[in-house]
Amino acid sequence: MNSTIETILNRKSQRVYADRIITDEEKELIIRCAMRAPTAGNMMLYSILEVADQKKKERLVVTCDNQPFIAKAPFVLIFLADMQRWYDYYNISGVPELCSKNSREFEQPAEADFMLASCDALIAAQTAVIAAESLGVGSCYIGDIMENYEIHREMFDPPDLVFPVTMLCFGHMTEHGRNLSITPRFPEKSIYSKDSYQRLNAEDFEEMFSERAKSLIKSGNFLGEAENVGQHFYLKKTGSDFFAEMRRSVKVALNAWKGKS
Ligand SMILES: Cc1cc2nc3c(=O)[nH]c(=O)nc-3n(C[C@H](O)[C@H](O)[C@H](O)COP(=O)(O)O)c2cc1C
Repeated sequence: MNSTIETILNRKSQRVYADRIITDEEKELIIRCAMRAPTAGNMMLYSILEVADQKKKERLVVTCDNQPFIAKAPFVLIFLADMQRWYDYYNISGVPELCSKNSREFEQPAEADFMLASCDALIAAQTAVIAAESLGVGSCYIGDIMENYEIHREMFDPPDLVFPVTMLCFGHMTEHGRNLSITPRFPEKSIYSKDSYQRLNAEDFEEMFSERAKSLIKSGNFLGEAENVGQHFYLKKTGSDFFAEMRRSVKVALNAWKGKS
């Protein structure tokens, strides 16, 4: 054990924040650490946008699936997958002319660039989470920032090659937050394998969900017409309205990214 491992193993998402500002020094450190994250080809295919305007935070509460704690977070960062910076630079640098002079295709951003830039943005975000945690500043991801592409575009004005892949709410931890229990994880056996992918069977799933689903099974409090844990999770997550909106929104964003909007 060392303090880094302890910080990682004890981290919990924080959705309630102490009534205390995040100082400029703390903000600067969190952003500096995020920018030290590994990045594909050292290209830094991401941007970080702070949402400081309280009215925008309040709008995000609604556009991100009605999550009121967003408006109460003293520090909110959006991490954007960003190829625009490089393509602007390529254009300014005469890359299209170079390509045409040499009869080469000037490659346009596609799905792979979207994936790679999203990886970069997320790795920077998680580095910010751990840096903040080490300063006593809790955080919570908001994946719903991928929804409502058109509204978020109108709010923040990103060009076609910039996509908000995640958002983080930060705030100093409360005593209550500090004492929250860590959330369960699946057994390592269901997640980790060596040398070849291990597909799970019904028995493995039984073991995988045994801890996680105990209280749900006991209460029988399944959503809607669900009769078991798998059906419950499908209705709650993968088959939910918010997930449908996320699929729609990301499809529109990817089309814009590929120049098909
Ligand atoms: C990509 C991503 C998106 C998430 N989106 C949300 C969200 O919109 N709202 C929320 O309250 N938590 C969100 N979370 C936090 C998860 O719910 C949380 O990490 C999970 O329940 C495990 O809890 P823990 O972080 O305390 O271990 C998100 C986490 C990730 C990694």
